[in-house]
Amino acid sequence: MRILMSENSIVPDSNHGDSPAPASGKMHFHSMEEMSRDDFAILKRVHEENLEKLPDLLLSLLNSLGGDEAYPVDRLSHSLQAATRALRDGRDEEYVVVALLHDVGEALGPMNHGEVIGAVLHPFISEANHWMLVNHPLFQTYFYGSHVGIDPNGRDIYKDHPYFEHTAEFCAKYDEVSFDPDYPVEPLETFIPMVRRVLSKKWTPPGQEK
Ligand SMILES: [Fe+2]
Ligand SMILES: [Fe+2]
Repeated sequence: MRILMSENSIVPDSNHGDSPAPASGKMHFHSMEEMSRDDFAILKRVHEENLEKLPDLLLSLLNSLGGDEAYPVDRLSHSLQAATRALRDGRDEEYVVVALLHDVGEALGPMNHGEVIGAVLHPFISEANHWMLVNHPLFQTYFYGSHVGIDPNGRDIYKDHPYFEHTAEFCAKYDEVSFDPDYPVEPLETFIPMVRRVLSKKWTPPGQEK
C-alpha cells in the first residue's frame, strides 16, 4: 500500500485496491496513536475530499483577486493575462496553470506569497516551476526595485542556480508585462480544465517512493 501524507498525518493512498472502503461518520480518538482502522478510513475520505476541493478553492481565491481597484488592472486580470501570454507562447499546461495561480498566495502571505503558492502547488508541479513560484517576488524586484530603494539585482544571489534563467524568463515575459489593460485575455473558463488536470496529478511524499 502506498501512502499519502496530509498536513499532519499519513493516510492510505486511495489509488490502490487494498485501501479500506470509503467511510462516512466521525473519527473517535483523543490522540493520533489511538487511531483505529475505521478512523483512518474516515481520515482518508476527508483527505480525498480536501484534494477534490483544492481546484475550486484556488479558483475562488483567484476570483477574489478581481476586487482590486488600486492596480492598473486587478490581479485577477493580471493573472489571466500572464496565463494567456504563456498559453499563446505554447507553454505546456503546467506552466500555464502556474502562471495563472502565481499570485494567489498574496492574501494569505502578503510577505511571502511566492512561498505560499509554491507550497500549495509543490506536489503537482516540477521542481523548476516550484522554485520559480517561490522566488518570483524577488526576481520581480529587478523591474521596479530601483524606484523603491530595493536592490534590483537582489536576484543575483541565485545567479548560478539552475533555475535562475527559468525564473527570470517567467518574470520578464509573463509577470512583469501583464498589467496592460488593453491586452485581450482568455476567459477564466479556458483555464479551469487545465487547473483540474494539473491538480489531479498523484503525489508520493519524499521517502515513500517504491
Ligand atoms: Fe507575485
Ligand atoms: Fe504577478
